[in-house]
Order: sequence, then C-alpha cells, then structure tokens
Amino acid sequence: MLFQGATIPTDRLAAQQAKADGIIKAMQAMGLTAAGIAPQDLAGGIDYLIRAQQKTRFPWLSMNLVRQTDRQPLFSPFIITKIGATKVAVLGLTGRIPGPTGNADGNFTVLPWHDVLRDTLAKVRDRADMVILLSSYPCPVNERIARLFHGIHLIIQSGHAAVNMPPKQVDNTLICQVGDKGGYLGRLDISWNASHRWRHDFAGQLRTVQDRLDRTNWLIKRNRWIKRRSPRDKAAVAEQYRKLLDTRNKLRTEIRQLQERSQKGAEGLCAYANSFISIKTTIPQDRTVEAIIVQAARTVNRINRKRLQLQRQRLRTTNRAGQGHGNNPDQGMAALVGWRTCRGCHPGQTEFWRKTGHARSWRTLAAVNQQFNMNCLVCHVTLPPYDKATGYNTEQRLARLPSTFNNVGCEACHGPGKKHARQPKLVGMRKAGVTVCLTCHTSEHDNNFVFKHKLKKIRCPAITRPTPAA
Ligand code: HEC
Ligand code: HEC
Ligand code: HEC
Ligand code: HEC
Repeated sequence: MLFQGATIPTDRLAAQQAKADGIIKAMQAMGLTAAGIAPQDLAGGIDYLIRAQQKTRFPWLSMNLVRQTDRQPLFSPFIITKIGATKVAVLGLTGRIPGPTGNADGNFTVLPWHDVLRDTLAKVRDRADMVILLSSYPCPVNERIARLFHGIHLIIQSGHAAVNMPPKQVDNTLICQVGDKGGYLGRLDISWNASHRWRHDFAGQLRTVQDRLDRTNWLIKRNRWIKRRSPRDKAAVAEQYRKLLDTRNKLRTEIRQLQERSQKGAEGLCAYANSFISIKTTIPQDRTVEAIIVQAARTVNRINRKRLQLQRQRLRTTNRAGQGHGNNPDQGMAALVGWRTCRGCHPGQTEFWRKTGHARSWRTLAAVNQQFNMNCLVCHVTLPPYDKATGYNTEQRLARLPSTFNNVGCEACHGPGKKHARQPKLVGMRKAGVTVCLTCHTSEHDNNFVFKHKLKKIRCPAITRPTPAA
C-alpha cells in the first residue's frame, strides 16, 4: 500500500516516506478499519512503520512480523470489531520477504505462517462469528491455509495481481483479491448467519461440469466418425467409445445431482455477492481526501526540490575538480539547442506548438506540485535521445536541465537540432513518427492513444516556402 518497490534508494527515502504519510492519512480519512502489512510496506524501514503507527494509530495488523530478539509481535496480530450484530475478527498475515529489505534496520523478522496461524486463530475463534484473514501470501499458499484451518471464513489477498480475482471457494473459505495499484475497488456483500457456512458455489461448479460434458460430446461425435471409416485397430476404438459413453453418463448424473443440491442445500447457508468497481476519472473527488493528497504532494515536492538542488551543487563541484570525459552527461545535451533557436527560422510551427499542451507540460506538473519529481519529469521535459553508451544519466541531466527545455519541445519529436540549425540545407531533421510519441504516450499515461487522431492535434504546419537561413 505504501511503497512501489521492495527497496528504496537512501536518497529517495525521505520523499517516499512523506508520500506514505499522505497515503496513511488519506486511508484514515476514508474510514479504514484494518490494514494487513505486506512485505513492500516495510521498504521504508520498520522504524518508519512503527513511528507512523504511533503517530496516527493506524490499524496495521500482522501476527508474524515480530521483534528479532523476543519474537513478540510489533503490531496487533488481530482486531475484533462489530459489524451490525456480527462480531468479526480481522487477522493480519505478512507474506514472505523476498531477500533483504533495503532500509530495514534488521531488528525484526517475519515468521512463516505455520509458526503463528494456529495459535492466533485459537485466540479469536470463540470470540468472533466471522474470521477474516488479510494475507499477502500468494494464492496457492492461501489455498493451503484454507484447507488446513477451517475457521477462516474469508481471505483477502494482496500482492501482485494486475486483475481482480472473483471469490474462490476452498472448503468453507472464500479467497478474493482486487487488482493492484488501486485501479479497482472490490465489494463483497455478505449475508452471514448462525450456520457460519458459505452457500456452495453451485453455479461455478455446474459451469465446469457442463464444459466437460460439451467436450465429451464432441469427442463422441469424432469417435463415431473414426469408427465409420473402419480403422485398423477396431477393438481399441470400440473400447474408447465405450469409455466416452461411460464418462458422459457420469457427467450427466453429476449435473443432475448438482442441480438438486443447489435447489435444496441453499437454505439456511450464508450468501455473498461480489462486484468490482473500476476507479474512473469521472468519479468525483472527495474534498477531504483530495486536500490531504495535495498537501502530501507539496511536502514531497519540497523534499525533491532540495534533493535536486543538492545534486546540482554536487555536480558543480565535481565538474570543477575536472571529471573524466567518457561519462560526461553533457555530451547528449550538447546536441540540443532549444525551441527559441528553431523559432528564428520556423516562426509558424513555433506559434502552433506554443498553443499545444506540449509547450505547457512542465507547468502542468507544477500545477500538481510534481515539477521536481524525477519520475514525472522524464516525459514532461525535453531530453536528448536515450544513449547509454555515452554514460546517459537521467538524474544528473534533470538536475541541471536549462529551463528552456522545461516542455516537450521541438527536439523531443524532431531529434537534436544543433547541426540542422547551423546548416539546414545540409542536415535534415527527423520525421516525427509514432515511435517517438510512444516513448511518452505509454498505455499507463495515455490510455487512448491513436496516432492518426492525436497527430492532427499536434502536427506542425508544413513548410510552405523554404525559410531563408539566418
Ligand atoms: C517527451 C514526451 C512526449 C513525446 C515524445 C510526445 N508527447 Fe504528446 N504529450 C506529452 C505530455 C507530457 C503531454 C501532456 C501535456 C500537458 O498538457 O501538460 C502530451 C500531450 C499530448 C496531446 C494533447 C495535446 C494538447 O494540446 O492538449 C497530444 C494530442 C499529443 N501529446 C500527441 C503526441 C504525438 C502525436 C506525439 C508524437 C508525434 C507526441 N505527443 C509525442 C509527452 C510527449
Ligand atoms: C511515460 C511518460 C510519462 C510520465 C513518466 C509521466 N507522464 Fe504525465 N503525461 C504523459 C502524457 C503522454 C500525457 C498526455 C496524456 C494525454 O494527452 O491523454 C500526460 C499528461 C499529464 C497530465 C495532464 C493530463 C491529466 O491526466 O490530467 C498531468 C497532470 C500529468 N501528466 C502529471 C504527471 C505526474 C504527476 C507524473 C509523475 C507522477 C507524470 N505525469 C509522469 C506522460 C507521462
Ligand atoms: C537557420 C535556420 C533554421 C533553424 C535555426 C532551424 N531550421 Fe529547420 N529548417 C530550415 C530550413 C531552411 C529547412 C528546409 C530544408 C530544406 O528544404 O531542405 C528546415 C527544415 C526543417 C524540418 C523539415 C524536415 C527537413 O529536414 O527538411 C524540420 C522538422 C525542422 N526544420 C525542424 C527544426 C527544428 C526542430 C529546429 C530547432 C532545433 C530547426 N528546424 C531549426 C531552417 C532552420
Ligand atoms: C509532439 C511532437 C512535435 C513537437 C513537439 C514539434 N513538432 Fe514539428 N512536427 C511534428 C509532426 C508530427 C510534423 C509533421 C510530420 C513531420 O514532418 O515530421 C511536424 C512538422 C514540422 C515541420 C514541417 C516539416 C515539413 O516537412 O513541412 C517543421 C518545420 C517543424 N515541425 C518544426 C517544429 C518546431 C520548430 C517545433 C518546436 C517549436 C516543433 N516542430 C515541435 C511534431 C512535432
């Protein structure tokens, strides 16, 4: 929930923690009851998590995130809360940490689930009508857990899943998960009663058996066809045909039984209905939460600005000390001239460009307090083409990018223009094709990029008569 990766470079820690502070506040404003701690939440360090919890009383849960020394849990293992008349226990289980966590100070360990689950469940079993486990283990592990411990009624998974997972029933446990990165909300309406047993998912099971029956019918047809063509091994074909008919009979019986049971057995059991809500930009913002996000973005931006300034100073001193050539980040920059130079000979195209969003792209970031965020800048400014061989270093380059490149400028599309600006008749410019657009218009940042349509909006007017060289 808090961090993007399992580790954070030290110089980015402060900004990432400020962002995490914002997430915690926003979640609280939305009325969160409980949150399981996943391995990635530890990327900012265990101390950060403990401090944040003490400051905000955020309901973090984990039964297996323990102090290294005495193996005592560092956070509440569970909470018991009342929803209507139903007493619900919510337990947190932290998934396995892949390798060492970057900034963790080391005084904690994450115990495997089989060391802790039984004892923790024993503590809540008689105190709750329903038991929910928040687990960041992957699905196969949660399925094993469901088979071993019958007292868990619902497992809500977290972790890497691009798509939503509708509830899967394993014995008397439902396992479900929404896709990551907050693209979806999941909603599970539950009608819970004294049976403490889920109504069986007959519909899903029926579909599976029906599929198998369809396939068997198809095989039977094919087999008849083979038989008619009098094959060499008649006995084997006949044997297989008999087996297929047998399978078909069994499947038909199974379907009949399932239908009967679904009519009879549903009485008195607990029901659920699952739905996912996709988070579209058309959904109006909540004012309180929006204010929290703006505030957090400002803080992060302040930290990033300082970092960029420091980086710039550091570069200045190393440059004065005389740096070796091979890795000079200026090398790529030296081929760029900036839009003002192009304006001299292409006033019409420049006028046109200045009316497009590309000319405002840096200000767009400033408007949302993100103009010092390296992650955003790469697409909202003009950089020379990616060139690893010459020691390309985005961080260093961004740290001292002249302000004339604070836009998606001419050279972002047409390529470096210094040689062309000197000798336009000798050196041509690149055609701005779809490949260059897609370096920035990725599906994540522009989900409706159709080159033909978008081109119309930003295509500079053609050169009508050759502009004389200055
Ligand atoms: C260096 C990154 C980058 C490249 C290359 C790029 N774009 Fe963009 N584009 C952006 C950004 C960032 C915005 C948002 C600008 C804003 O409103 O702040 C944008 C906005 C746009 C818009 C909306 C313009 C408007 O006036 O609101 C269109 C259309 C567009 N781009 C088309 C293209 C096409 C077509 C190409 C390729 C020929 C291209 N872009 C290349 C980054 C890029
Ligand atoms: C991979 C390139 C890329 C990165 C990285 C990127 N953007 Fe953009 N951004 C774009 C493009 C392309 C558009 C134009 C989209 C369109 O025209 O539909 C855009 C548009 C925008 C807009 C205006 C349109 C809108 O959605 O409201 C904002 C604001 C914005 N970006 C903010 C950010 C922030 C903040 C970050 C960093 C967290 C960021 N961008 C990182 C490519 C990028
Ligand atoms: C000294 C004047 C001058 C400057 C400065 C200049 N151009 Fe040109 N540009 C020209 C001329 C003249 C042509 C037409 C060349 C021809 O007809 O062969 C041209 C052609 C072009 C073309 C059409 C493609 C081609 O190569 O024929 C593009 C695109 C272009 N320029 C972009 C730029 C960009 C971007 C800049 C700034 C980096 C720039 N120009 C700076 C004079 C200039
Ligand atoms: C978002 C990408 C983009 C940006 C930014 C951009 N252009 Fe263009 N430009 C195009 C496209 C696309 C065309 C039409 C196809 C082509 O000639 O590459 C074009 C055409 C041109 C042409 C006419 C070429 C001809 O053959 O007639 C010139 C000159 C030109 N641009 C100059 C500029 C200058 C100067 C700037 C900056 C002030 C600029 N462009 C910014 C995409 C861009």
